[in-house]
Amino acid sequence: MSGSAFLPLHFERHAPSEMLARAESYHLEMERRRSVRHFSADQVPRRLIELAILTASSAPSGAHRQPWRFVAVSDPRAKAAIRTAAEQEEREFYEGGRATEAWKEALKPLGTDWNKPYLETAPWIVVLFEELYGVEPDGSRRTHYYTKESTGMAAGLFLAAVHRMGLATLTHTPSPMGFLARLLGRPQNERPFVQFPVGYPARGARVPDLRRKSLEEVAIFDPLVDPESSAAPR
Ligand SMILES: Cc1cc2nc3c(=O)[nH]c(=O)nc-3n(C[C@H](O)[C@H](O)[C@H](O)COP(=O)(O)O)c2cc1C
Repeated sequence: MSGSAFLPLHFERHAPSEMLARAESYHLEMERRRSVRHFSADQVPRRLIELAILTASSAPSGAHRQPWRFVAVSDPRAKAAIRTAAEQEEREFYEGGRATEAWKEALKPLGTDWNKPYLETAPWIVVLFEELYGVEPDGSRRTHYYTKESTGMAAGLFLAAVHRMGLATLTHTPSPMGFLARLLGRPQNERPFVQFPVGYPARGARVPDLRRKSLEEVAIFDPLVDPESSAAPR
């Protein structure tokens, strides 16, 4: 067989009762994750951000291309520049006619507007870029596969890692986000995917009262499919 080398898988089987306990406790923990829009200015060590990025970067990816880049920003001047540019786009979105009425209606329960003070208050902004293609040392392009799906999975793991370590974040997508590539000096092959302010929630922070869908609404188990009817026509 050609290609990469193979290693034994590190895998630990747990007793069924322990599996259930672990699954329930992780579920409860993740149910407590909320998008936070009011941050404390308390500092967060860089190592925690590094660990969140490493966890995110353990995500699966199409052909293992790992098509993501995380740019972590803590410099107050850079955060101020991001806030100014983001608010300009958000103002166009909320007040300049960029958002449809239906979209604005859908956002109403969240109570959001173009003001984004948290982009300066939060000690970190981590901007996740989707790498559309790789660049070889000779400048030629290396094809990536499923870049959006892969980067989305890395984003999900980043959220979980930040939550697990006891910090808060927000999935923030000021639209369009091209300004992030410009401000952060990113190359042509990287497209901003989402930015995550990261920090402690502000004291007394409030979150919208949202309902999550029930298991029945999001999951279907063993739907009855008649194998005859689904067979390809002859
Ligand atoms: C792809 C994506 C883009 C989002 N963009 C924004 C955004 O630009 N601004 C914002 O305040 N929240 C944004 N959110 C956060 C959602 O509003 C939030 O996840 C949702 O209301 C559910 O709340 P929860 O995260 O607290 O469960 C975004 C979420 C996702 C997944």
